[in-house]
Amino acid sequence: MPARAIAPLAAASLAVAGVAAVLIGLAVTGAADTPLLLDPGAFVRYGIPVTAFATNLAAAATVGPLVLALFALPLESAGFERLLRLAGVGAAVWTLAQLFGALLAYAEAIGSPLRLDQTFGAGFWQYLTDTEAGQGRLWGIGLAALATVIVAFTSNAWLLAGAVVLSAGALFATSQLGHQGGTADHDVAWGGLFLHVAFAAAWLGGLGGLVLAARPGSLGERSRSKGVSQDPDARTLASRYSSIALVGFLVVAGSGIVSAYVRIGGWDGLVPGLATEYGALLIVKAVALLALGAVGALHRMWAIRRLPKRSAFWGIVVGELALMGVASGMGAALASSAPPVDPELAGSTPSELLTGAPLPPDPIHGEYFRGVSLDPLWLALILALGAFYLAGVIRLARRGDRWPVLRTVSWLAGLVVLLWATNGGIGAYVDRLFSAHMLVHMVLGMLAPVLLVPGAPIRLALRAIAPRKDGSRGAREWILAAVHSWYGRLLANPYVAAALFVLSLWVFYYTPLFRWASTTHIGHEWMVVHFLATGYLFVQALVGVDPGPVRPPYPVRLIILLATMAVHAFFGLAIMSSTGLLLADWFGAMGWDTGSTALEDQQRAGGIAWSVGEIPTLALAIAVAVQWSRSDTREQRRLDRKADRDGDADLEAYNAMLARAARRDDDERS
Ligand code: HEM
Repeated sequence: MPARAIAPLAAASLAVAGVAAVLIGLAVTGAADTPLLLDPGAFVRYGIPVTAFATNLAAAATVGPLVLALFALPLESAGFERLLRLAGVGAAVWTLAQLFGALLAYAEAIGSPLRLDQTFGAGFWQYLTDTEAGQGRLWGIGLAALATVIVAFTSNAWLLAGAVVLSAGALFATSQLGHQGGTADHDVAWGGLFLHVAFAAAWLGGLGGLVLAARPGSLGERSRSKGVSQDPDARTLASRYSSIALVGFLVVAGSGIVSAYVRIGGWDGLVPGLATEYGALLIVKAVALLALGAVGALHRMWAIRRLPKRSAFWGIVVGELALMGVASGMGAALASSAPPVDPELAGSTPSELLTGAPLPPDPIHGEYFRGVSLDPLWLALILALGAFYLAGVIRLARRGDRWPVLRTVSWLAGLVVLLWATNGGIGAYVDRLFSAHMLVHMVLGMLAPVLLVPGAPIRLALRAIAPRKDGSRGAREWILAAVHSWYGRLLANPYVAAALFVLSLWVFYYTPLFRWASTTHIGHEWMVVHFLATGYLFVQALVGVDPGPVRPPYPVRLIILLATMAVHAFFGLAIMSSTGLLLADWFGAMGWDTGSTALEDQQRAGGIAWSVGEIPTLALAIAVAVQWSRSDTREQRRLDRKADRDGDADLEAYNAMLARAARRDDDERS
């Protein structure tokens, strides 16, 4: 296969396989068949899934090349610049495709063909601004447009990383559309699909980017425009992409199963669900995924090693992209097809009207510690944090380097606590019972960080990951860049960390943030990130062993801690003694019949803030005191060793100084 034919062939196989999969999928489920009422016409009916496929491809052509460039290539190398150009085009097409997709969705919603008149335009704008689906699309379009501007005008690594975050935001906003709305599993379906499309985009787009960056036949080419960095060879590039692909494969598989689970009605619906047309498409996707997994293993164990000479690798890549086209195309067809179980629309109980789901049982028999309330985002992150940490420990052990077992135990215990706070039975109560919310807040803000920080993940990463030598940034380089950046040092500063930790309490509960976090999914996820991050930074600033800015002396740290404990206790007391309900039309209107009022539950929350918050803080104070005494002992031992080495020159000097002073006094008196 001539080298120069690979890129166009790869793009063609992806596009053709994808569009074919969309059309076959639609034929199987009948999703584009003429409806009995309000037919928007064939153009709209087929246009929606085909545009959805094109939109997913454009998202992949944005996210994939950016992630590959930022993770695998030296800044300003020829390959880096090519990927940036691809991402810029991808982002622009993505923005326009989303806009067109929104137009088609509006036409379908009103059952009208696309029209270019004022009424249609005005209605379309109202759809975008006044409906939940429209607003999700508007966010998607806006964030993708912002990413386009950034990619077009800068090659600054941090700004480009920002463009990746904006793209993830756009995918998060649009992942709530389709078969999620109004169901009890709304948040699970939303989180699952977001992970699915985001990592499918990085995986698929990264592979496309690899073809462009490695450009078979042009290895090691210098960047003509800047000519400062050399591209890594194709084998290095393919190996680095292979790590991205492995993570992509695992997350797409897991989130695909979660997304399917929610839409086919859980385990009970599995067999009947898979027997439907919708289920048939899911099976095709699962087979495509397994085939992609096998191809990935083939790459790792055989094809990559034969680069750059033999081009079997590139032939396999063309086939791989066709498989991804099939899976993505089927995904777009599925998104237009009715899932086997109609989403159970919310009933009329207060809790169902407010949250979309009925009240869980009264939490009196340990319900908080039983059952699961799945949050795919946090589940995926916690599994990743555990897996990478253990991989680092194993790598050190294989090298014969020691890593304290207690650190590993502490880290894993922290992850278990975090898993409970984000995916445990209490999850069903967090946005329905103020006291449950406060318990989770305290566990996220204090207990989990007090266990996670001693795990010293940054120190482990810096020891376990080999540094890059070609100017590219791997995980190690990004961690170092973040820790040494001015905002990394600012956030790690103990005074800033303590202020953030303390002020968050008041700002969160006494501003509209509390309502946003209790009533919306995005708000809830932000709250978990915020409390965990401010708690982690605070504990790290006081007792962390990971690298960071110079810390104040131990006495000052203890004062910071005692001051924080006092403000924390005062906050707890303020809530405990409050006579007015915070979020009365939410927690007060949930319809609990637990025998205690919403105000009593709020006062219970105050008690939890005071008590549960203080216990880890006390542990922290003990840790600071222990570190202090240890550092004193270490200092004493150092002084003793020095005294042994230099015959206690310091004491000699001191005594000599005293003698001189005594002599001076004597002289003055005489
Ligand atoms: C075990 C394998 C997989 C399963 C069970 C699975 C399941 C699903 C489900 C349930 C949806 C949501 C459809 C809807 O809205 O009703 C979906 C969408 C999607 N899937 Fe998969 N998937 C799998 C593999 C893949 C792979 C390998 C890729 C690509 C590399 C992929 C790409 C997509 C895309 C892009 C969408 C979004 C479609 C859209 O909303 O426009 N999936 N998938």
